[in-house]
Amino acid sequence: MKFKKIINTISISRDIFKSYINEGNVVLDATTGNGNDTLDLARLVGYKGKIYGFDIQSIAIENTKRLLTENNQLENVVLINDSHVNIDKYIDEPLDLAIYNLGYLPKGDKNIKTDAENTVLSVSKALNLLKGNGILVIISYIGHPGGLEEKEALEKMLNGLNQKEYNVLKNEFINQKNFPPLLYIVEKANHI
Ligand SMILES: C[S@@+](CC[C@H](N)C(=O)[O-])C[C@H]1O[C@@H](n2cnc3c(N)ncnc32)[C@H](O)[C@@H]1O
Repeated sequence: MKFKKIINTISISRDIFKSYINEGNVVLDATTGNGNDTLDLARLVGYKGKIYGFDIQSIAIENTKRLLTENNQLENVVLINDSHVNIDKYIDEPLDLAIYNLGYLPKGDKNIKTDAENTVLSVSKALNLLKGNGILVIISYIGHPGGLEEKEALEKMLNGLNQKEYNVLKNEFINQKNFPPLLYIVEKANHI
């Protein structure tokens, strides 16, 4: 492997999961897709933890279920075939971490993708659900139609967050071609 540490946005998001998720944690995967993030998260929270996994496409939920079953990790995952804009209808406990891996399903229908309005609304709801010191991770892709608009709407919202309540970090590969994904990391303040 050419790089071993700062490989790409996905590898950095996985490093964040490893650093901040503990056994027993409650985590939201707002876009389960093919289930790669969900599997990683399920292993980290362990059998005492819980993952809420959302995807708007039934094929994505099926793919995720299959991957989790093959790896014996389905038990602590609640899979919900609905838009993440409705997370507050399903989750009424505080979250330790939330991840939004935006865009479309790899190898799937590129027309079914996350969009600016619903992403911003859902992320706002996830921030409310986060515990103090909880972490939000967003991977944003700008190379497909609508991706740039989504990123701009998201950044406008994140830029406006009160710095006494949230620390917001943006991570960007600045020397790569072909629109590498952006990574946003947010920590919510703990006032206790
Ligand atoms: C980049 S993929 C996610 C990849 C996934 N995390 C993985 O590890 O394989 C983005 C996913 O977002 C889903 N999606 C699009 N709009 C959504 C919405 N409003 N609510 C939930 N999921 C949505 C798509 O169906 C697609 O599966």
